[in-house]
Amino acid sequence: MCSMTTSTLPPTDLLAPGPTADPYDIYANLRRDDPVHWNPFQKAWLITRYQDVCEAYLDPRLSSDRIRPMLGMVAGDRQDEMGRMLAIMAEWMVVTDGPAHHRLRKLANTAFRQQRVAAMGEWIGEIVDGLVDRFVASGSEDFYQDIAFPMPATVIATMMGAPAEDALRFQKWSDELALVAFGTGGAERADRYRRALAGITEMQSYLSDLIDKARSAPGSDMIGVLLTSQDAEGDRLDDDELIALCSLILFAGHETTTNLLCNGVVSLLQHPEQLEKLRADRGLVPTAVEEMLRFDGPIKTIQRWVVEDHERDGRQLKAGQRVFLMNSAANRDGGTFDRPDDFDITRPTQPLHVAFGRGVHSCLGAQLARLETRTAIPIILDRLPGLRLAGPVSYRSTTASRAVTSLLVQHDAGVR
Ligand code: HEM
Repeated sequence: MCSMTTSTLPPTDLLAPGPTADPYDIYANLRRDDPVHWNPFQKAWLITRYQDVCEAYLDPRLSSDRIRPMLGMVAGDRQDEMGRMLAIMAEWMVVTDGPAHHRLRKLANTAFRQQRVAAMGEWIGEIVDGLVDRFVASGSEDFYQDIAFPMPATVIATMMGAPAEDALRFQKWSDELALVAFGTGGAERADRYRRALAGITEMQSYLSDLIDKARSAPGSDMIGVLLTSQDAEGDRLDDDELIALCSLILFAGHETTTNLLCNGVVSLLQHPEQLEKLRADRGLVPTAVEEMLRFDGPIKTIQRWVVEDHERDGRQLKAGQRVFLMNSAANRDGGTFDRPDDFDITRPTQPLHVAFGRGVHSCLGAQLARLETRTAIPIILDRLPGLRLAGPVSYRSTTASRAVTSLLVQHDAGVR
């Protein structure tokens, strides 16, 4: 019987500089030689093949609750910053299982119905145009900081009915949440939790005020819709649940969309023939966005927790162990995708990548993320002619996301 010590591959720290810059060779080795691999650095099983990842998403022996086990690890007093922050995150539906998740998801779905999302296209275009105006006028080269980072925060703030001038506060809160989600441990961990807790506490109080205002004059924004919507049995979200959902949405919908836009632009600029195809035929934007999600998607890994001992591909997984469902490895699986390492914006969209996950937790905001990116890309190509990289692209050292930390560009806007 195989155990976690029989891996045929030397262990690799996924947080090392090499895999941070480009993880795809390591993913290829894992898929080929050890598709269910125990990684002693990350202390997790890595599942890398497309079919295996899809199956794992549907497997009830793998729990989504990755916060409560951590809460158990927080030494001593749960009242320290880390314990309090984890206790807040433990209420997010993305880390709940079974009926508790089903209930929250059903109530949250109302705000993300297809028609509601589609209606956001026009004002999302205005937001992107405004950001590009400022980008050009200021002479900025920082695509990440001045376009890709503010775009989704402004969209989420607007969607929640917050005044436009408060979008910067959403950006700050999201940044602070990312400190916890994407931090890499070490000496400053306590400080990261302290800042994240301060941010989320401020955000909770802000959202509480927004809910009070929406209750006295319910509008058609997301909070108004969620306040008034109830299921067939008359169940509805209480204020604490609504606040938890809104903070989860900022957390889940901001960095991810920033990364999709950055990684997508990098993929286009590194494949000029694909960029030219897209410039020549804007009808290719939807398939180009799906290819951006597949080729270099924002989420490398989604975590699960083993709740029942079982075997996968000859490996014995034990209750209490961590599992990484490696979306980005699955999306380059040659057993599923033809020429998996080619970036091809005309690629058929079936089989579908797993960038948005699978199963009951599959991304609630997938249509919104697609809409934001499908709206932004043509505006960026039109308004920033001659767009090109102005320096090396760097990435954050994290197992979770494919997150650009710097993306400098040049363009010929204004000199045409
Ligand atoms: C869940 C990816 C954008 C809200 C997920 C999951 C993935 C994902 C892989 C599954 C998590 C799991 O199984 O544990 C992405 C990517 C995005 C994106 C790649 C951008 C390109 C968004 C946006 C929003 C959003 C824009 C909202 C505004 C959520 C929520 C969940 C979720 C609330 C939890 C769903 C549940 O637990 O039922 N996302 N996401 N995401 N996403 Fe996204």
